[in-house]
Amino acid sequence: MTSLVTAVRSQVLGRLARRIAGTGGPYAGLALLPDKVLWPLHRDGLDPVEQMAQRRDREPVSRLAVPFGLRVWLVTGDEPVREVLGSLDGFSNDFGRFAGKVGINVGQDPGGLGFADAPVHTRLRKMLTPEFTMRRLARLQPRIEAIVADRLDALDAAGAAGAPADLWHEFALPIPALTICELLGVPYADREYFQKLSTARFDMGDGAHTASLDAVGESLAYLGGLITEQRREPGEGLLGSLIRAHGDAIDDRELAGLADGVLTGGLETSASMLALGAVVLMDDAGMAARMRAGDDLDRMVEELLRYLTVVQVAFPRVAVRDLQIGGVGIRAGDVVMCSLSGANRDDAAGADPDRIDPARRPGRSHLAFGYGVHRCIGAELARMELRIAYPALVRRFPRMRPAVAPADLRYRRASIVFGLDELPVYL
Ligand code: HEM
Repeated sequence: MTSLVTAVRSQVLGRLARRIAGTGGPYAGLALLPDKVLWPLHRDGLDPVEQMAQRRDREPVSRLAVPFGLRVWLVTGDEPVREVLGSLDGFSNDFGRFAGKVGINVGQDPGGLGFADAPVHTRLRKMLTPEFTMRRLARLQPRIEAIVADRLDALDAAGAAGAPADLWHEFALPIPALTICELLGVPYADREYFQKLSTARFDMGDGAHTASLDAVGESLAYLGGLITEQRREPGEGLLGSLIRAHGDAIDDRELAGLADGVLTGGLETSASMLALGAVVLMDDAGMAARMRAGDDLDRMVEELLRYLTVVQVAFPRVAVRDLQIGGVGIRAGDVVMCSLSGANRDDAAGADPDRIDPARRPGRSHLAFGYGVHRCIGAELARMELRIAYPALVRRFPRMRPAVAPADLRYRRASIVFGLDELPVYL
């Protein structure tokens, strides 16, 4: 750990850390928006709010009332969402375009893929893609199985003697956190420390905001330290592999941005899918039985991804020219928000889209991982985690039930990644 502490203090990375820690990242501006603007992020339990369905039916491309003189569009239909996300030259994700708007400044650019356009995005994505091939991911499978088995034991211990155990903290969050440690190549000795940091950065509970910002800075600094070490001696994980393959063609800042993007993209998303999936399985005995038997596992996981759509909206896009989406005129400079949770409940999903139906055979794939060039790079890894964890959970605890009434589950109020902050269960 000593070498790490030294590396963490490295001046360059310290600056990088402070830059991000002091700002709260690109979504910090959300805190400035009034509640009525944030309604697309609200949910009624597991379902999108009713207003979403009304908009989708009547006006799938509609204006959002926002302050700061911004023109912001909400896109809720399956087809227009694909039009926006699939457009190669109509929209930009570039962070620079948001600077000066919604309380964001250019220094808050988190790096990584989500807020970059071609050619930067194309170059970085090409570097990262080989790390997510099925062949590379197969290497992780036995590790994920071991992590899941270990977390089931931890959950069991927490629920010993009939006490409620918190499935969020014991199971849902550590599984993706430890998987990402494995993926990145975080040394074993540091995993507990890194997992705590990862947990803290996403903890937006009352009063935790500042601690969260500190944790973002600390984890970036940690990643920076790791990069310094791996430049000297590349390890087996993603960071070492990128350094071996690209050397100085990727600089430390880009590497830290990619690693942090993997952490941001792959932790809370998978954790929320695990927790909310458990809520569904505790409520639906038929589905839990099928999951236990392993029948049609892939299809069940896809339906859970569609139904829960934890990433509620895609990264904001800015129109780079005047264009039409779903027959509606969008002006250059307008911001477009695509509601993935709204679009995934479109009739395009097949009959009765608000119902979870493991036998559903939709004509096209869901949008829970997005669409187009920014589509989730970690989709196969996420699927692997879910396909291992759900059946193992319902097999180990066939009588598991929530320890609070469904109405008392504490869902997040307005979060880009929908989820719970705790999930007390009786095993
Ligand atoms: C169930 C879990 C997950 C869900 C629902 C999810 C969802 C998404 C969505 C919707 C996008 C596209 C956003 C847009 O176009 O604006 C995205 C992008 C991304 N995801 Fe995931 N994700 C998950 C897991 C992961 C994992 C496990 C990783 C990596 C370990 C990851 C890394 C990323 C990255 C790096 C991007 C940016 C890609 C780009 O801009 O080119 N995600 N994810």
